[in-house]
Amino acid sequence: MAASEALRSGQLTQLTGGFVRDFEVAFGQWHGAGDCVATSSGTTAIHVALGALGVGPGDEVIVPAHTFIASATPVLHQGATPVFADVDEKTFCISAESVAERLTERTKAIVAVHLNGHPADMDALLEIARARGVAVVEDAAQAHGALYKGRKVGTIGVAGCFSFWEDKIITTGGEGGAVISDDEALVERMRRLRHHGEGPVEGVQAGGRPTERAYHHLELGYNFRMTSMQAATGLVQFRRLEEYLEARRRNAAYLSERLGKLGPIDPPFVADYAVHSAYKYICRLRSDAGIDISRFVAAVAAEGLPISRRYPTPLPQQPVFRDAGFAGAPCPVAERLAGELFTLLVHPTVQTADLDDYVTAIGKVLKALA
Ligand SMILES: Cc1ncc(COP(=O)(O)O)c(C=O)c1O
Repeated sequence: MAASEALRSGQLTQLTGGFVRDFEVAFGQWHGAGDCVATSSGTTAIHVALGALGVGPGDEVIVPAHTFIASATPVLHQGATPVFADVDEKTFCISAESVAERLTERTKAIVAVHLNGHPADMDALLEIARARGVAVVEDAAQAHGALYKGRKVGTIGVAGCFSFWEDKIITTGGEGGAVISDDEALVERMRRLRHHGEGPVEGVQAGGRPTERAYHHLELGYNFRMTSMQAATGLVQFRRLEEYLEARRRNAAYLSERLGKLGPIDPPFVADYAVHSAYKYICRLRSDAGIDISRFVAAVAAEGLPISRRYPTPLPQQPVFRDAGFAGAPCPVAERLAGELFTLLVHPTVQTADLDDYVTAIGKVLKALA
């Protein structure tokens, strides 16, 4: 409905229609953020944030070794050097201690990933970063609505990046992203980079009239724009965000109560400072079980249940980074977790019966493989 309204309006783009700005205002205000810049994806959200911070050749950007590839690839696209930090063994988020060990005078930014919906320890990261004039960019692609000490993630660092890909907490119809920030100059530059470096104006004025375009391009930019149909879909999803979060958290709590009793399974840890957004339900199969993770996952999948290993190849070992010489110092926790973690699904359409099926199947497989 919303997408067809956008389609019928004939104003299909951020430059000609009002849906993208409406989505930016709604998403930005919900966060109490200064502004919001919608993008074509979460990857391009991180890319414009790093670009607008001036990350470029000669700079280093510290990213966690255990995350989705797109937390780090924008660093390479900007011609900078990704430096991989280890992660915390309980939260699976970037370890401030490891970051401190990897800081150099070339460090320009840290990408703090709120992995699986669990906030990274922002105070510890900001303390290290501020002392050195380093920017902390939040990758909240998996963490809409997660809270760090009562604050929504994405609002704590210099910029917070979100993904609205199909399986994210809300989607803009398959692909989409956004960056929120209180820094006006950064927002202005992110808008410019999103749209071919065009300045001084772009987009739609109040009242929905397209601005006069000068076709004047101040710097090298990209086309990272969101479409009207994406934004219209996103607005509908956004209105249900709180309800979705509640359902996810309910499903996660239900599983934790039951899976925690199954011996060698550690359900997701939630730090005292955190409210989890329960994007994905990531468990650890402890090594004391003596069960190979691949065999375990295959056996549960054979019971007909959706399960997968969680990031089995740490980023430093990914050929895209390793073969280019960016493997860096060892990240022992990330390397160990790669062989221990598995993913279960807790999105809002998952029913209690589905969760019970997980518990039954996992119990059965643990007995069979022990
Ligand atoms: C942690 C993380 N960062 C960045 C991204 C990139 O988002 P997108 O797929 O929208 O480009 C994702 C998406 O899965 C992600 O999980």
